[in-house]
Amino acid sequence: MPNISNRGASMPPSPIRKLVPYAEAAKKRGTKVFHLNIGQPDIETPAAILDAVRNTKMNVLAYSHSAGHESYRRKLVEYYGRNDIQVTTEQIIVTCGGSEAIMFAIMSCMDEGDEIIIPEPFYANYNGYAVGSDVKIVPIPSGIETGFALPPVQDFEKAITPRTKAIMICNPNNPTGYLYSLAELEVIRDICIRHNLFLLSDEAYREFCYDGNKHISALSLPGLEQHAILLDTISKRYSACGARIGAFVTKNKTVLDTAMKFAQARLSPPSFGQILGEAAVDLPANYFDAIHEEYTARRDLLVSRLQQMPGVTCPLPGGAFYAIAELPVDSAENFCKWLLESFEYQGSTVMMAPASGFYATPGRGVREVRLAYVLNLDDINNAMDCLEHALVAYEAQKTKTKVVTQL
Ligand SMILES: Cc1ncc(COP(=O)(O)O)c(C=O)c1O
Repeated sequence: MPNISNRGASMPPSPIRKLVPYAEAAKKRGTKVFHLNIGQPDIETPAAILDAVRNTKMNVLAYSHSAGHESYRRKLVEYYGRNDIQVTTEQIIVTCGGSEAIMFAIMSCMDEGDEIIIPEPFYANYNGYAVGSDVKIVPIPSGIETGFALPPVQDFEKAITPRTKAIMICNPNNPTGYLYSLAELEVIRDICIRHNLFLLSDEAYREFCYDGNKHISALSLPGLEQHAILLDTISKRYSACGARIGAFVTKNKTVLDTAMKFAQARLSPPSFGQILGEAAVDLPANYFDAIHEEYTARRDLLVSRLQQMPGVTCPLPGGAFYAIAELPVDSAENFCKWLLESFEYQGSTVMMAPASGFYATPGRGVREVRLAYVLNLDDINNAMDCLEHALVAYEAQKTKTKVVTQL
């Protein structure tokens, strides 16, 4: 058999999906699994945007323009304008999800061996794009003790080498839920300008900001016009992960023209998804109000329950729908496996994502898990009951094993 590529062999498995076989086995045994492991929102996709697709009359499902339907890009200009992001239709390429926008950015800005600085923990799929294009991710640590705030400027400065081409942020952050302040974004902006770096800004969770705080886009930071690339998606915004629609947006014409060549090579983004995305811009202005209220209540419940558990640390996230918690266990991965393999409380168990997979530095985050609060309040409460009992049972069985081993 011919060998697969070294690139393929070094592609890391998804930390979010690694435990799936254990969850499947638990379900086969009849155990209910509360899924706090994956960011698939449970909020219904708005009927109006699904109807826009259902009511579309077409005889041929054709390719669209490689940059996306012009009518959709015009609508996006309107949407971005409402979010203090001033762009033109020519500065937008519609992509197959935010995922493709990330890929286009890396491929357009970086060569083999170039380095991209990313505060860790970070969205684990960035690893996949970096491996796919032979780019090196240089992580700089943010930690649970600061609530995952932006690492100090000196850490960035120390990490910069002649191969550094870009900084990448995710704001609000997956997996930490951290929302960067204007002051933090200005720090990043100044570093990018000082060292002539691109800023790749993944803003997949722009709408999910809490406590009255507003999201600030990298594209609206003055001085960064030639550096900033906005990586966007409608997946989370409208609970439309399956539409596979995102956007690559930049005011840098050379970068845009380069990304456009990659866009032409993959022909076009999906047509039905664009119809759905276009309709979404016309959703009522108050569409996000109920969603904010729901996610705020979920976050508050989840975090307060976690904070009440002995030995658990969980900073209050300011955005997205994720929280990271440090647990009183030696290995969060073993604990997460044990939850699925050997534990149930009132017929249920909990699935969480071990956070070590979101760090690039070995040994970091080993006692942490990422929880996605994409379940309704009752289910979050039940999941937290389950987790609370599990932590007690896990400690008890560890002590028992120790006694047995010592005998
Ligand atoms: C931070 C972040 N960026 C990008 C994506 C990819 O989104 P899409 O479904 O649009 O490809 C995700 C999906 O979970 C994400 O969490």
